[in-house]
Amino acid sequence: MTTVKYILEDGSEVLIEADVGQNLMQLALDNNLAGIEGACGGSCMCGTCHVLIESVKGKQLEERDEMETVIIEMEIDELAPINSRLGCQITIQEGMESITARIANLSNF
Ligand code: FES
Repeated sequence: MTTVKYILEDGSEVLIEADVGQNLMQLALDNNLAGIEGACGGSCMCGTCHVLIESVKGKQLEERDEMETVIIEMEIDELAPINSRLGCQITIQEGMESITARIANLSNF
């Protein structure tokens, strides 16, 4: 199990236990968290699952690939910071202890 802390747009925090294989977009939807839409169903096409990764303990995330970077630059901001990620592209892996993700959708970035 990996503990995922979401920081919502109002600053409140929600802790959710996640299983290996779950991604941060679907996990947020399954728990009815505001600010994550997942309009493309996790196909790395829409940018409506945008989060800022604030910290990772244990196994680290892989760097975002070219497609994810293109969507972030097109749909979020050309100058988005490196911790700007698409939740659907972040899958919980063995050895990840915890992840803190700030929900930052298109309207408040
Ligand atoms: S759900 Fe569309 S890019 Fe993640």
